Amino acid sequence: MFRHILSDFDLTREEDVEILDLSEKIKLRPGKYGDALEGRTLIMLFELPSLRTRISFEAGMTQLGGHAIFYGVEGGGFTRSETLEDGVKVLSRYGDCIMARVLKQEAMERIGAAATVPVINGMTERYHPCQNLADLLTIREKKGRLEGLRIAYVGDGGCNTANSTMIGCASVGMDVTVVCPDNPKYSPDPEIVAKVEERSGRSVTVSHDPAAGVEGADVIYTDVWVSAGMEEEKAERMKAFPPYQVNAELVSHAKPDCIVMHCLPAHRGLEITSEVMDSPWSVVIDQAENRMHAQKGLLFWLLKK
Ligand code: CP
Repeated sequence: MFRHILSDFDLTREEDVEILDLSEKIKLRPGKYGDALEGRTLIMLFELPSLRTRISFEAGMTQLGGHAIFYGVEGGGFTRSETLEDGVKVLSRYGDCIMARVLKQEAMERIGAAATVPVINGMTERYHPCQNLADLLTIREKKGRLEGLRIAYVGDGGCNTANSTMIGCASVGMDVTVVCPDNPKYSPDPEIVAKVEERSGRSVTVSHDPAAGVEGADVIYTDVWVSAGMEEEKAERMKAFPPYQVNAELVSHAKPDCIVMHCLPAHRGLEITSEVMDSPWSVVIDQAENRMHAQKGLLFWLLKK
């Protein structure tokens, strides 16, 4: 039976750890896994642009001895006249796995319902589970553990990376604080918070005070203030988010050995300053590299289990 990863909720704590362990093994001994997915094909559907997700999946498949095919239709809709379901059923006959980046989670769920091979969410407006697996791998590498660490997600608490950070980090035993403007639009979705708390047994803290919110943090995480599909709200967002910029003054309130993460692409001078991006606190390039390693672990786990 095949599995889909349509959101971070599709993986249990044990499965997260299993995939991280596998990713680490493959990263440390790439030669051993050079033909692990020989003859396998990943089909990559993109409705939105990407640098990291596209290239890291493609490079990862190559390194595992398999092959990836890119099919991109920017602006919505993968097919010209047929239904999404018909297209996905056909693609399931050509490939061993489908990875999709679509604007709406609803479309991701439709892809999952129609596919007869595993489907991986390569980002929707709601979730970014591959990003979180890479983030967890990075935090574990840098800190030597996950359980008991404190992560402060600073910025848009309602965006996809905030959701995936809450779900994935709480699942593996981290304390999560979301530091965001005092506005329901920029705050975590109460439904997601309730589900995170129920499955992890941990509370998600929400703070509107940037300095207090990052106090004692082992990890500070931020992302863009205007996500894909929110361009019309740009002016309003540019007024709301500046107090939540990750700059050296803000980082000074966290633990002295804290690490700073960003899923990239970053807008230097907006959500994060160059001073922090280029500082010893920053792990953003290692984090981006780990997209490939974590996805290799995930692909191996999905296709070879
Ligand atoms: N972080 C991330 O998903 O990057 P891309 O948009 O470049 O894929």
